[in-house]
Amino acid sequence: MAIDVTLRPAGPQDAAAVAAIHHSAWPEDGCDEARIRQALQQPGNHCSLALADGQAAAFVDGFLTCAPDGRLRWEVDLLAVAPPFRGQRLGEQLVRASREYGRRQGAALGRGLVQVDNVASQRTFARSEFALDPTRYLLYTCPADPLEGGADVPAQPAGRRAVEVATFNYSGLWVEEPYTEQDLEAALEHCAVRGLDLVGTLTPEDEPHAWQRLEALGFRQAGCYQWWRCHYPAGLA
Ligand SMILES: CC(C)(COP(=O)(O)OP(=O)(O)OC[C@H]1O[C@@H](n2cnc3c(N)ncnc32)[C@H](O)[C@@H]1OP(=O)(O)O)[C@@H](O)C(=O)NCCC(=O)NCCS
Repeated sequence: MAIDVTLRPAGPQDAAAVAAIHHSAWPEDGCDEARIRQALQQPGNHCSLALADGQAAAFVDGFLTCAPDGRLRWEVDLLAVAPPFRGQRLGEQLVRASREYGRRQGAALGRGLVQVDNVASQRTFARSEFALDPTRYLLYTCPADPLEGGADVPAQPAGRRAVEVATFNYSGLWVEEPYTEQDLEAALEHCAVRGLDLVGTLTPEDEPHAWQRLEALGFRQAGCYQWWRCHYPAGLA
């Protein structure tokens, strides 16, 4: 018998249900319910929860960022379907809903970063009218060392290329290309001062000089990814 699926926005009161789905999708990773609750309360964040026959079965989380060219961007950040509910394209329903939410927020473009070997997620984005950018990127992250005592907090986010994010998995700065070594150092310092977890950046897989430079700065590789993008027709928000 077909299951009855409904989608609704998730609020802070849904943090435990979202955390349970997260844990079922990534049992080997840590999952912090308090962090999820906090992310759900961030301005610009929107999480859709799928209920299957009334049971919390899947979620997609997204948020707005500002691209370096000043355009508003919708980030489809994290998608998970609990294993018992897979195989029914709940992911597609959620990604389509997230895409539509981004359009209604006035974003110029939407995007999601998917690991190159995650076929189920790739199929989901393809079905949800996202187009694959063929460039393969290595994700590099570097944890920030929390500062002791009260340092002066910079008034602005560090570096020209830094985007501050609070996700279900971490808080930190994304540093976007083209960036300098100073941008990365400024971002790490900013995270340390603000108590954010990490700095993340993407570098094309075929540019070894770039990833060698990142490794020299203490960044470590966290997988190979590709962007899936959609463009929203102007004036339809
Ligand atoms: C990605 C995910 C959300 C998709 O769940 P879902 O909506 O139930 O997806 P379905 O099982 O209905 O499959 C969707 C498509 O992927 C294909 N697929 C599913 N699992 C697959 C696998 N292991 N290998 C290859 N293809 C697979 C299906 O055949 C289907 O293809 P089709 O649309 O061409 O028919 C789910 O697998 C998941 O939660 N994975 C773990 C978390 C994750 O990787 N999240 C995405 C990154 S943030």
